[in-house]
Amino acid sequence: MVRVSLKESDSFEEFRDIARGLIAAEIAPDDVVLEAGGEAGLFGGVPPLPRDTPAFSVASGFIEVARDTICHRDPERFAMLYSLLWRLTHGEKSLLMVASDPLVHRLHQMQKAVRRDTHKMTAFVRFRQIADDSGERYVAWFEPEHHILRRVSKFFVDRFAAMRWSILTPEGSLHWDTQRLVHGPAIDKSHAPSGDDFEDWWRSYYRSTFNPARANPRMQRAEMPKKYWHNLPEAKTIPDLLANARQRTGRMIEAEPMAPRRAHGWTPENVAQPEASSLDALKAAAQSCTRCPLHKNATQTVFGEGPSDAPVVFVGEQPGDLEDLAGQPFVGPAGQMFDRALAEAGIDRSRVFVTNAVKHFKFEPRGKRRVHQKPNIGEIDKCRWWVESELSLIKPQFVVALGATAARSLTGRSVTIARERGRLTNWSGRAGLITVHPSFLLRLPDKAAQANEYRRFVEDLRIVGRELPAIRKVA
Ligand code: URA
Repeated sequence: MVRVSLKESDSFEEFRDIARGLIAAEIAPDDVVLEAGGEAGLFGGVPPLPRDTPAFSVASGFIEVARDTICHRDPERFAMLYSLLWRLTHGEKSLLMVASDPLVHRLHQMQKAVRRDTHKMTAFVRFRQIADDSGERYVAWFEPEHHILRRVSKFFVDRFAAMRWSILTPEGSLHWDTQRLVHGPAIDKSHAPSGDDFEDWWRSYYRSTFNPARANPRMQRAEMPKKYWHNLPEAKTIPDLLANARQRTGRMIEAEPMAPRRAHGWTPENVAQPEASSLDALKAAAQSCTRCPLHKNATQTVFGEGPSDAPVVFVGEQPGDLEDLAGQPFVGPAGQMFDRALAEAGIDRSRVFVTNAVKHFKFEPRGKRRVHQKPNIGEIDKCRWWVESELSLIKPQFVVALGATAARSLTGRSVTIARERGRLTNWSGRAGLITVHPSFLLRLPDKAAQANEYRRFVEDLRIVGRELPAIRKVA
């Protein structure tokens, strides 16, 4: 009997190399014990397997099944996979198509379980903010059912690239410092923080997206099984929300029919405001926004920047190429133009908050270039939720829309800039002003027209300075 201990509990590559050797040595599944948790390739009293054994081809479906099931918790997984491989390479080439075969059936079930666990982890990890020696870090505790830590790491690195975070589990930990991912040992749950600003944010986010008319407790439990609840801040709201669902649905039905708000983009979904108690928490939460498809191609969410008590918020369109890479708004050519105009209007940029109506860069790849594309109404309206959230936390006296996209976001309707610019107005109790977007000035081909428009832009900014002495530069 050959005994092989695999060093890694979840490594397809390690299993593949060992299985290749076993197949080359013609060692049948009944003559080998494969187990996890030791020194790789440790053979109990048998001669080593041939070195440099040639690769062989196997049905491509095997690789997929093996990559998933290798992460299953069942200690028999290596033995089962080796049996499958043996049979595939010994006359049962199409075995994977035989769904009724007990081995194939079991492996498919295991594959599903691993995929489900992976999905749950990507959906239910909740970070809590802490401060460590190097600044702020987000830490989450999660208990996966299977050995999925390594396979989910890419998801979290991609999704939270700009944050410093750690995920602690009973089996191991992941640590990301915005550059490098480190796999660490298991860390006890007592080291995981519990509760911070995020808790409120998640709870109010969940409340705002909960539709009582669609509440189905059975489905709810299937999608968000109870075992995850203890780790989810929003779970505390579920019993209440479900208990009130019938009443709220009744009220919705009885209520006077309203003109369809969606036509103007003012849906409850995108005007609901979270009760996050800090901009930092909101910014971190925005990193995982998937409200519209733009998050898929952008490098990161570009959140607003500036003092949290700024008297004025300037809203632009969306991050450009440079902003997308830097993770900061208005740092490219339009930003430089904007800075220059602010300075000329006598406004201190460090006293204003600058953000965008759409938080992800929308572009079309052309060769090596990423060419800016205008966000559409759906994208603007989906992203309004973040803009409204920023405004509700900052509570500025004044809001300025830079260009048509921002004007759409702030007013909920299409605006002709030439007709409405430079007029003081009021949006939900805040003073508002619409002006052009600085990139409009950059696009003007004619130098004289550019100089003229630039002068008008500075004039518009001066209106804001006149209204808010607190943002004026001290001479
Ligand atoms: N244009 C914008 O509207 N926002 C930016 O951040 C950069 C360019």
